[in-house]
Amino acid sequence: MSKTIISAALFASLAIGIAHADDATDLKRGKLLFIQCRACHDLQPDPAQKVGPNLNGIIGRKSASVEDFAYSPALTKASLVFDKATLDRWIEKPSALVPGNAMAFAGVASAEDRAALIKYIEKESAKR
Ligand code: HEC
Repeated sequence: MSKTIISAALFASLAIGIAHADDATDLKRGKLLFIQCRACHDLQPDPAQKVGPNLNGIIGRKSASVEDFAYSPALTKASLVFDKATLDRWIEKPSALVPGNAMAFAGVASAEDRAALIKYIEKESAKR
């Protein structure tokens, strides 16, 4: 095997290793950042309701679709689908995406923080 092939293989495995480390770092960061959401939301199906609606299965979910949760008229009428792009906009500034909504949270300004949060939410809220 030539030296070039060996170093290319080494580089590739290093790059993969780094990508994994980044993922793990993001998830850890997302978990820490979610502490500010956890006061009002759960990602697992139970307990069903806190101050905010349960977020289990939130990625791809229609807005205001948790049964028995008393949503604000504004969010009820909004008719969004929380794909990752929409969730990003919601977390950045909920009052900008849905004026008059009832989530008492200013938003997360940092795009990196939001990306880490969404990565964590995606993993932990996966329906099972
Ligand atoms: C002080 C409590 C509180 C905090 C903190 C909070 N939320 Fe909320 N959240 C709510 C309430 C209340 C609603 C419902 C808003 C409405 O009906 O207008 C909501 C709605 C949502 C929705 C829409 C859910 C649906 O079923 O339509 C998402 C997504 C969401 N919050 C994510 C988050 C994330 C992510 C964070 C942390 C960055 C967070 N929230 C922080 C109280 C909170």
